[in-house]
Amino acid sequence: MKRIGDIAVYEHGSKDNPAIIFVHGFPMSANMWKQQVDALWQTHYCITYDLRGLGNSSPGDGQHTMESFVDDFFAVLDELQVAKFSACGLSMGGYLLLRAYERWPERFEKLILCDTRSQADDNSAKISRSQNIKRVTAEGNEAFVDSFIPSCVYAPNITKMGAEYEALLLEWRQNSVVGIKGCLLAIMSRTDTTHVLEKIQIPSLLLCGEQDAITPAVGMMGMASEIPGGELVIVPEAGHIAPLENPAYVNEALISFLKA
Ligand code: MLT
Repeated sequence: MKRIGDIAVYEHGSKDNPAIIFVHGFPMSANMWKQQVDALWQTHYCITYDLRGLGNSSPGDGQHTMESFVDDFFAVLDELQVAKFSACGLSMGGYLLLRAYERWPERFEKLILCDTRSQADDNSAKISRSQNIKRVTAEGNEAFVDSFIPSCVYAPNITKMGAEYEALLLEWRQNSVVGIKGCLLAIMSRTDTTHVLEKIQIPSLLLCGEQDAITPAVGMMGMASEIPGGELVIVPEAGHIAPLENPAYVNEALISFLKA
């Protein structure tokens, strides 16, 4: 692990290979990409990092916004001296990448969006995020993580993943209260990036778990139809965390997309 400011960064593979940076979802960490990194590090310079406030990255004062997350994203790439890269983001990671693309499109080579959406939170989502902030203040992270994560994962996968699922849950519970609340603030105050989709001029792969109840496939079909040349792959037997739930299927799609 390398520390870039407050951010914990992990590099895998040779810098001589094409770079790909992975941006995890909420309230996860860089660890969620382990199986994708295992499949790609020999052909790609894989960069993963913990978003500010999660995993090993410091939460600071918890006053996070999607803009500050995008600042961190480019700061990590600049510090590693990576000018051009492919990027892969899940859910909140996708929110971040769409705004990062809007800010600095020339740096992107290929884009992979997993289980995400371009719309901002509507009023009811904002109210529910506020209730979650209140709940985390009152009860801590565990209750929130334990109620949120099972809604993300396709139920049969909880048993199938067994110890791996339990270990990840344990890790996500250990995030700081300030970090979790900072992410909720950033998510609920993010801008809508739907207008960016038609401007995406690079090869784009969209992946969505067939059973994703948080960002359902129908929404990602709409996104894929707005991105010129956007390709959608529905991942069977997976919910909202498709790269973790069906890594073999996701990796095959990723490898063939990155090769093309
Ligand atoms: C995520 O996986 O990053 C979250 O589901 C994002 C969200 O709650 O909108």
